[in-house]
Amino acid sequence: MIITLVTLHLIPFPSQAVVVYPGLPKCRSGLVLGIYSSEKDEGAAQFTSAGDAFDRLVSGKLRELLCGPPLKKGKTRIFHGLHQDFPSVVVVGLGKKNPGVNDQENWNEGKENIRAAVAVGCRQIQDLEIPCVEVDPCGDAHAAAEGAVLGLHEYNELKQKKKPVVTPQLHGSAESEAWQRGVTYAEGQNLARYLMEAPANYITPIKFAEHIEQKLRSFSNVKVHIRPESWIATQEMGAFLSVAKGSAEPPIFLEIHYLGGANTNDSPLVFVGKGVTFDSGGISLKPSSGMDAMRADMGGAATVCSAIVTAAALNLPLNIIGLAPLCENMPSGKANKPGDVVRAKNGKTIQVDNTDAEGRLLLADALCYAHNFKPRAIVNAATLTGAMDVALGSAATGVFTNSSWLWTHLYEASVLTGDRVWRMPLFEHYTKQVTDCPLADLSNIGKYSRAGGACTAAAFLKEFVTASHWAHLDIAGVMSNKDEVPYLRKGMAGRPTRTLVEFAARLSQDGRNTK
Ligand code: BES
Ligand code: ZN
Ligand code: ZN
Repeated sequence: MIITLVTLHLIPFPSQAVVVYPGLPKCRSGLVLGIYSSEKDEGAAQFTSAGDAFDRLVSGKLRELLCGPPLKKGKTRIFHGLHQDFPSVVVVGLGKKNPGVNDQENWNEGKENIRAAVAVGCRQIQDLEIPCVEVDPCGDAHAAAEGAVLGLHEYNELKQKKKPVVTPQLHGSAESEAWQRGVTYAEGQNLARYLMEAPANYITPIKFAEHIEQKLRSFSNVKVHIRPESWIATQEMGAFLSVAKGSAEPPIFLEIHYLGGANTNDSPLVFVGKGVTFDSGGISLKPSSGMDAMRADMGGAATVCSAIVTAAALNLPLNIIGLAPLCENMPSGKANKPGDVVRAKNGKTIQVDNTDAEGRLLLADALCYAHNFKPRAIVNAATLTGAMDVALGSAATGVFTNSSWLWTHLYEASVLTGDRVWRMPLFEHYTKQVTDCPLADLSNIGKYSRAGGACTAAAFLKEFVTASHWAHLDIAGVMSNKDEVPYLRKGMAGRPTRTLVEFAARLSQDGRNTK
């Protein structure tokens, strides 16, 4: 049913006036409504204000239908034919009303519940092949929008049979600005998911760079430089080049300048992302089982570049530089061999004891280069070590930082986004294990091999940092989702893009105070 409204129409809800704008063709829409579960009040449904209003619109029928035990968190009930504008209504349990920040879980539980509930509801509408869904803001339109846009995302670019496209819209108009911000945050994460999920023969270094350039083309305050191999050589990035030369696919150094700050010369935040578009391990070849997942070894580059695209869309008032060394790690006659020694941009020599520890080689040079911008802070993200996944699994990104100021901002951002961070150590203890090296200044693996692998990798990166506000985010554990995050489908996760965006948003409010 297509209804075109010609006049500005105020639907007379007793508790809330909902404005429907004229001229927009309204497609057949599903409706997702949240409902709280009240422990004490068995039987009395605790509606959100949108739920209440809808119940009045259908003369209390919804309340009647929902009598009985309260709907548990994440559980749904679906009703057809309640109202002509909404042929299908999904009611979904939100859990307790306003639970706030959970100090054990380190996240805002109310927001997290809304994301999960809305995602489930929207997917049910998608399964019914209804092209539009109106979503109850559930008291937090930003979180509801994230749940809808993240929950509906799926990579099916290369399949002939695709899931139906469903467009989520805010039900009512009271919180449209917060809704739109939530949509923008979620679309940022979906961009990272797209780039990570895509096969490595589709997202090569140059294709990655062109995709990001295209996303940033419309912003007049953004400049994108796609640096070729010859430029990388003139920069004396010998560590990065040593990895890249093993592949037939040429490397790219992607450099993005987003100038949203009050002054173009305000000290920038510099984001650096590991961009290995495929990590076979090189001569230290990985086992073949599960190797396909290494198409997402550019997750660091994907999340930081997507965060900048999102910052530009939000017009955040700060300057951000994005740096992504992009290449493949392949075995060949030109590849690094175990025991080879290479020289990084800052002159330090590195013995490549394991060619599969390639990410730190790219990052070493990119981190040296990052210092040219006199940054306010440097934040790098990388799917760096399997050991990070062993340590924390997919619960949180591991953060290694020399700055408690930076840590606080990242942590506070993550409590809001629900895409959590956990602080990890940068002890001298680990530094000793990478500097004790027979042929060079540094070895690219710790001398006790697997022990504390995420920490020795971070200690290695620290050797290329002189900035006093630097954080390394090891995102290997959060690279993909099975079913742990309920509002993400199975696949590459694009985490922690929203935390990076929220962090940048906070930094833009923090003036230039870095103490
Ligand atoms: N890209 C991998 C790390 C990785 C593993 C990311 C699993 C996501 C999921 C990285 O380049 C790597 O292979 N690291 C080695 C380091 C080791 C040789 C010291 C690892 O973790 O095994
Ligand atoms: Zn590797
Ligand atoms: Zn890797």
